[in-house]
Amino acid sequence: MRRKDATLALALTSLLAAMPALAVELSVVSGSVGKDITELRDALDRFEKQSGNTVRIVEMPASTTDQFGQYRLWLSAGNPDIDVYRTDVIWAPQLANHFVDLTEAAKDQIPKHFPSIIQSQTVGGKLVALPMYTDAPALYYRKDLLDKYGKQPPKTWEELKATAQEVLDKEHAAGNGQLVGFVFQGAPYEGLTCDGLEWVSSYGGGQIVDPKGNITINNPKAEAALAEARSWIGTVSPTGVLAYKEEEARGVWQTGNAIFMRNWPYAYALSNGSDSAVAGKFGVVPLPAAEGETSAACLGGWNLAVSKYSRHQKEAIDLVTFLADEPQQKQRAVNQARLPTMPELYGDPDIKAAQPIVPQWQSVLEAAVPRPSAPTQGQYNEVSKEFWTAVNETLAGRIEPAAALKQLEGRLRRLKRSAWD
Ligand code: GLC
Repeated sequence: MRRKDATLALALTSLLAAMPALAVELSVVSGSVGKDITELRDALDRFEKQSGNTVRIVEMPASTTDQFGQYRLWLSAGNPDIDVYRTDVIWAPQLANHFVDLTEAAKDQIPKHFPSIIQSQTVGGKLVALPMYTDAPALYYRKDLLDKYGKQPPKTWEELKATAQEVLDKEHAAGNGQLVGFVFQGAPYEGLTCDGLEWVSSYGGGQIVDPKGNITINNPKAEAALAEARSWIGTVSPTGVLAYKEEEARGVWQTGNAIFMRNWPYAYALSNGSDSAVAGKFGVVPLPAAEGETSAACLGGWNLAVSKYSRHQKEAIDLVTFLADEPQQKQRAVNQARLPTMPELYGDPDIKAAQPIVPQWQSVLEAAVPRPSAPTQGQYNEVSKEFWTAVNETLAGRIEPAAALKQLEGRLRRLKRSAWD
């Protein structure tokens, strides 16, 4: 370079360095239940103020299964229009190749999260996503109705059925004809994998596929669990439950029409809202188990990942570290009872005062059962789909539990041969 050119280049470089960085527009894609999108928008407004960048939300359907299908398409096409994905805890192994490694950018924040949650988002040494909140379900029960008939919240599934049936019979006789006993997520999608895993595991029937990758689902305890769940349909649970996801279950419950509900903690905050018919009338306990077995809560939760195809990776990384950090986690816990991924926040007095379920749920969370997404590697969604289909068909009475499990085992064996053997 000639001297004059070099001087010019130098002048230009210092000029550029002195100029404020140009603001960018980022896109974050997120599914939603309850008030997720309102809450996210508030947090994004705070980020916009602090960073000068703007963020657009691309809103997705509530079902995690529908989100996964769409995201997988976008990511395999290298779509540059989405910078940040809100990701389910189970997706990390399947989508890892499409996301940037956050290890370096989040190195100060990582030690604040539960190590097991960071671990769940780490694939081959790469931190694929930063945890936003975690999830472990509860059995919601109508305290007023149980008190009225001198009942305790159930510890076993059979007790749940018996209590639900007795209260139902008496309430129906008294003219409360809309009331149902137990609502949960029975639709054929990922939510039913969670519920089904909880039944099977709380009967001592294992985790579908064990942590070493062995297919363990075809066993007598799993069969007993499915037979029990099948017996609820059309008795204490309405047949419609076969099409319920989280929000449908909450809808029935929150209008005061269910005695029991299985749902995640977000429903706790909403059930106590000013527009809820059950505000102040309910309690939460860990899910029941079979006699002599241990209650099982499926481990859920959501994270934030930066797309490899984003044109604004630096700004997108700033956004996910902001949303995953303590102040935003605290807001989500206070407003929505979203369980923080940082142990420190479980002692927070503001969270405890606003949403007592949060500190109460730390032990449930710590014992929560993961879905077999790590051992089945790239095939988790296919494995889960086989499981939720088998469970849904069993609940619908189209197949007997033993036959369903035998068939499921065969299908999982075929998947395993092609993928994680
Ligand atoms: C909740 C959980 C998520 C799970 C989903 C199933 O959103 O956090 O992990 O996959 O429910 O419906």
